[in-house]
This record gives sequence, structure tokens and C-alpha cells, in this order.
Amino acid sequence: MKTPQLIELDTLSEATLAAEAAAGLRASPAAVAPKFFYDALGSRLFDAITELPEYYPTRTEAAIFAANGAAIADAALACSGAAPVLVDLGAGNCAKAARLLPVLQPRRYVAVDISVAFLHQALQQLQREHPALELAGVGQDFSAKLALPPPLLAGGGVLVFYPGSSIGNFAPAEALRLLREARALARGGAAGGTAGGTAGSGAGGLIVGADLVKDARVLEAAYDDALGVTAAFDLNVLRRLNALIGADFDPAQWRHVARFDAAHSRIEMHLEARVALAVRWSGHDGRVPAGERRFERGERIHTENSYKWRPQDFEALLREAGYGAVRRFSDAQGWFGVFVARA
Ligand code: AVI
Repeated sequence: MKTPQLIELDTLSEATLAAEAAAGLRASPAAVAPKFFYDALGSRLFDAITELPEYYPTRTEAAIFAANGAAIADAALACSGAAPVLVDLGAGNCAKAARLLPVLQPRRYVAVDISVAFLHQALQQLQREHPALELAGVGQDFSAKLALPPPLLAGGGVLVFYPGSSIGNFAPAEALRLLREARALARGGAAGGTAGGTAGSGAGGLIVGADLVKDARVLEAAYDDALGVTAAFDLNVLRRLNALIGADFDPAQWRHVARFDAAHSRIEMHLEARVALAVRWSGHDGRVPAGERRFERGERIHTENSYKWRPQDFEALLREAGYGAVRRFSDAQGWFGVFVARA
């Protein structure tokens, strides 16, 4: 049985994360990036969100793959060539890619996530199920920059897999940048002329999931569910900040707000102060300078944007990023899109 290769690349130190968090708290309006959601509890709360009746994206995307798996695989393999190197962005528990392995039959599976620690267990399990498959896990914060060591891409066409609509957590200009970097990865891998590589098929492909515009009531319920799981997910960022910079946030003084902003075509999530208050942070033993921020009652911390695309706009974005032969697979209601494109 092979063993998964694990590589930690330019991951952010706690000091860098703390500096970013403190700067966000000082900004006006205050804002913290969605990556701060995903500590151990936050990741579990996100998993719970995906099971909620209101949160349609996960099950709608799964239904699209269940209904069109073979057609999606055919379209993707037509771009990358057979036996591709499968690069899974934001792989997490690797479950979505695992379901595609039988139809894609990759030569190598490269799982990328913000920390290699998240991938370790999932890859061990996957290796037991696929003893002969070459597996690699890469820890990289690709929200800043996506680039992988060439040997991981060598040997064939590269197929980049980015499901789950996380592309929607990027503003359009950043989404364009990430799609361009994913294309460079897919094409670079296909060229295959770097260390240890054999010539590839000269092609590469992308499978990406994007959430689509729909009725604002459906969208707002998905981000403000009746059980309050999304509220807990949002409020948990305050505990994360307390741990990271030694802050004294009291989650009970804050409430979760989620609204669809039609002008920007995005759900915005905010934490809103229930009372006038001051937050102090010690800096966590010098990680960042100590500080304080006062909030008026009703003042907010912006925690996330989740962009909802019109299908034609997402296709145009893919073309602007350099992709061609774009195919779209959707559900009957047109709520979610799985796009396949040639890099
Ligand atoms: C990870 N990402 C695609 C989720 C979304 O729908 O934007 C994050 C999320 N935030 C609240 N609920 C789910």
C-alpha cells in the first residue's frame, strides 16, 4: 500500500493571522475574513450547516453529481485527457472527490486545504480504500495565492476540482484571479516538463461548483436557519478571535445578521452589537499590540460575503479567466451550477 505524501506550504503563522484579525477589528467598518470561521468547532458547525433543510447548496450540488456524474466526468476528461492528476481545492474530508474517483480514474489525487492537518486522516482513510492510488495532501492558504510544486502535477493532464461554491466567498475580481491561477496550474501540469514529469496531454480542465441567484427568501433562510446553526457558526468567530489575540468578546452581546444584497448579488453575513460595548485585546503575549475597539449598539462586524451568480455571468467569468468549452450542469430549479471547462 502506498503512503500519502503530506506537504505544508506557505501556511500562515498565528502571528500573521493575529495581525490580520486585529487590523480587521480596527477597520471601519470592522471586518474579519471567512477563513477565521474554520477552527475545530467552526468546521464541525459548517458540517452541520450542510445538513440543514434550509441550506440547499450541498445537497443540490450532490444531486447534480448523482444525476450527471458520468457526463460531468466525460466532459472533464475530454479537457484533461484520461488518467489525470486530480487537484482538489478546499478538499476537507475529501468525500466529494472520493465519489468521483471511480469515474475519473486519476493517476494521482492532490488534496489542497488551508492546513495539512485537516487532510491527514481523510487521506489515510482514502489510501486504505485505494491502496494503489498516489495521494498527496498540501496545506496552503490558496485564498492568497494558488501554486503547487510542479512534481505534484507531473505525468499527465491536470483536472482542478473546486466544488461546494466556495468560489462565491471571493469577490468577483478575486474569483477571477483564483480561476486564472487554477488555469495556470492545470496547463502547467499538462505541459509536464518540470522535475520528474513526463509530457502531459497538453490540456487541462476544471470542474467548479457555483451557487446561482434565486429568490431572496430562499437565500436568506439558507444563511439564517431556524435552529440557529449558522448563527452559532458566525458567532464562533468571536471565540476564535478571543483565542487568537486574547480578546474579551462576549458572544451573548452579539447577534447574527444575514441579508441578500441584490445590487452586489451576494449574501452578506455580519455580527451586530446588541448593546454599546468595548472589546479589548491583550495581544496574546505580544502576538499583536494590545488594543481596544468601541462598538455602538447596532454597529457590525462584516464576516462573510457569499456571491450568487447568474449562470451566464459565471460562464463569462470563466471565459475571461481564459477557459473555453464551458459546459453547465444544473438542477431542475436552476439553483446551483456545476461548470466544466477547458483550461
Ligand atoms: C463555504 N461556503 C461555500 C459557504 C457559503 O455558503 O458561502 C460558507 C457558509 N457560510 C454560511 N453558511 C455557509
